[in-house]
Amino acid sequence: MPGTLIIGAQWGDEAKGKITDMLASKADIVARYQGGDNAGHTVVVGGQTWKFHLIPSGILYPRVLCVLGNGMVINPKRLWEELDSLSARGVDISPSRLKISRQAHLIMPYHLALDGASEAALGQAKIGTTKRGIGPAYMDKMSRQGLRAWDMLRPDFRQRVIRAVEQKNIWLERVYAEPTLDPQAVADEYAGYAERMRPYIADISPLLYDAYVAGKELLYEGGQGTLLDIDLGSYPYVTSSSASAGGAAAGLGIGPRCIDRIIGVAKSYQTRVGSGPFPTELLDEIGDHMVDRGAEFGTTTGRRRRCGWLDLATLRYSARVNGLTEIALTKLDVLSGLNRLRTCNAYQVGGETWTDWPADGEALEGCAPVYEELPGWEEDLAVSAWEELPAETRAYIAHIEQRVGVPVKLISVGPDRDQTIYR
Ligand code: GDP
Ligand code: IMO
Ligand code: MG
Repeated sequence: MPGTLIIGAQWGDEAKGKITDMLASKADIVARYQGGDNAGHTVVVGGQTWKFHLIPSGILYPRVLCVLGNGMVINPKRLWEELDSLSARGVDISPSRLKISRQAHLIMPYHLALDGASEAALGQAKIGTTKRGIGPAYMDKMSRQGLRAWDMLRPDFRQRVIRAVEQKNIWLERVYAEPTLDPQAVADEYAGYAERMRPYIADISPLLYDAYVAGKELLYEGGQGTLLDIDLGSYPYVTSSSASAGGAAAGLGIGPRCIDRIIGVAKSYQTRVGSGPFPTELLDEIGDHMVDRGAEFGTTTGRRRRCGWLDLATLRYSARVNGLTEIALTKLDVLSGLNRLRTCNAYQVGGETWTDWPADGEALEGCAPVYEELPGWEEDLAVSAWEELPAETRAYIAHIEQRVGVPVKLISVGPDRDQTIYR
């Protein structure tokens, strides 16, 4: 099926990068549709590690065309850092390999300053953002004041930047008492980026549509995860974009009918970075086991990820709101060595039992998980076939399928591209 969407089914870092890279071996195009360099997607090939923030996780295959969609917010400085480091490692980064939507929004230095200032002003109530300027850039997009890649093609781009910096300096100075930015210096810096970006900027909508109609294989790679989605996540502890399936069509300029298959990538346990409620969080030695064995430190910010038992109520919610056709279950090897496993299938709230996940930070605060217990396994899962997995591991997967109602088609038992089991 030509159009495959890969989506984070939890709070991000589910190993979307690994799954995208694996499936990209048969793809023609890999496209990101939302978010920006708040994402950190890891790919491990033959012991070599690659971390992608803006570039789609298909760039390692020379035949794959990578696309940055109109739903994204792009920091040109970070784009070039990433492209230059890829180039230094021998990856072809010529414009024939990468197209950037002309409608994608630009992250400007004032977005970074405003992200930091807003978090500082929130104090204890801060979101715990990646401080990449994501929220402020989407604020400008929604209030129709953003600068887009398209503006880089226009002769008055410098003036547009100067005007925007002057306006934002008022905010920085009067609202947040922060230092202002030099409009000329920002304009000079961005004029340089515009020069380099020009050959990459394109109208991606017809490009994707024509490829789809011609029967090419397209992968749409989500950033973040469903529970961080601006509409569907644990608001306000979310990111500022549409990270769930609904965002893919709008963020790429394609119709939903160009999406044939929707893979929800889910970790075998639950993690989240930053603030916000997390009913199944483990603040004990089992949580430490997950952090240690799963190397649960953020790819973008290096922060320790919070860990807990797999929450099947969230996964069922994810299956519904995304229309998942299958699940890619990752990091199953991390659970090895735990003799009892728990999964949450519902919440106890006051005297009531909720089986559905409430998409609200405050409502979640009062949710106590209702657990089911399953036997664990000792084996390290260094296997390549379903039949070779321990019976307890297969029973854990069957339990997930039964509770969520979606088949688990891909099983990841290690970070490397090859440490994967297909069913
Ligand atoms: P993404 O943001 O969804 O692409 O995920 P990240 O790359 O931020 O985090 C996933 C981490 O888990 C990365 O360090 C991967 O290399 C690693 N990883 C991926 N799959 C597996 C797996 O099956 N087992 C283990 N132990 N690590 C994995
Ligand atoms: P990938 O694509 C995990 C979290 C931040 C914070 C919240 C808002 O690697 O899965 P933002 O900077 O977006 O305004 O931060 O969202 N967050 C992520 N958590 N994985 C990510 O991306 C994330 N991107 C943002 O930690 O809680
Ligand atoms: Mg990540």
